Amino acid sequence: MSRVHICEVGPRDGLQNAQHLMPTAAKKAWIGALADAGLREIEVGSFVPPKLIPAMADTAEIVAFARALPGVKVVALAPNLKGFQRALEAGAHKVTFPVSASRQHSESNVRMTPEQMVEEVRKCAAFAHPGVEIEGAVSTAFGCTMQGVVPEDDVVRIAATLAEFCDGVALADTVGYANPAQVRRVFRRVRDAIGEKLEGAHFHNTRGLGLANALAAYEEGVRSFDSSLGGLGGCPFAPGASGNVITEDLVFMFESMGVSTGIDLQKLFAARKLMMEAIPDEPVYGHMALAGLPKGFRAAA
Ligand code: COA
Ligand code: ZN
Repeated sequence: MSRVHICEVGPRDGLQNAQHLMPTAAKKAWIGALADAGLREIEVGSFVPPKLIPAMADTAEIVAFARALPGVKVVALAPNLKGFQRALEAGAHKVTFPVSASRQHSESNVRMTPEQMVEEVRKCAAFAHPGVEIEGAVSTAFGCTMQGVVPEDDVVRIAATLAEFCDGVALADTVGYANPAQVRRVFRRVRDAIGEKLEGAHFHNTRGLGLANALAAYEEGVRSFDSSLGGLGGCPFAPGASGNVITEDLVFMFESMGVSTGIDLQKLFAARKLMMEAIPDEPVYGHMALAGLPKGFRAAA
């Protein structure tokens, strides 16, 4: 039977860009509800300077909480060695590093050029991290609101270098510029370069093509997807970035195709309700939560 793996990134990608702070207790309740719905990988926060992104100031406490949820892989983002060390100390199971293929976005996001950021990740990989997975996420891999076009050769080169010392590499459409033909082409090129090290796809729904892009990546053999409940999300250092692919809609698409996600949609709607109660003025998205499940819907067996 076909399966995909979904990583919920709302608590990190969503809350880093939200107008409203979610209290720590509410974050825990939300993450608990996500785990209860069947999410087995949750990106719970980032280890960045709290002054820069106050919404991520409680990430160590959130990681400790999430580690106690049975069967959940706890992921955190880190932008440098200091963040990586904080993530290790907190006990994250997996750490993801944003490496922008766009020079301008990289400098705006992490104050490093892409080359410097690649070297920062290399340094982290060389730092002892027993049992902790490292992922290099090539961001702005399909275009950038500042630089415009991002050459595919740059994406392939960065992915190939990251694959030398990361456990896995993901491609991210940080600002929602990708289209399905481009997704197929770029994933194929990167797969040709790094093989099985190419793991995940991270799409934003800014121009409404999130699901189409996810399907295109699936057809290229990708089985690991990031998404965000209610379509929260965006990078505060990429002008014009908005929400991720919507978890509820992505789960519905796969389940109705007969591709199992392991996620219970009704429980996902309950998690959405908790999230909305905690940040009631934050805009949320999603077709499934509004339309409901179709009559006769059967989840993939
Ligand atoms: N966690 C906590 N504090 C950190 C830190 C981290 N990961 N990295 C640096 N700091 C602290 C330093 O100790 C220093 O503190 P001090 O002023 O008390 O001495 C201060 O922050 C500045 O450090 P510096 O190394 O000069 O960082 P910077 O100002 O050049 O910023 C990054 C670089 C990478 C830390 C910052 O740009 C960043 O966090 N970017 C990520 C943004 C993000 O999350 N984007 C969305 C996700 S892709
Ligand atoms: Zn993102």
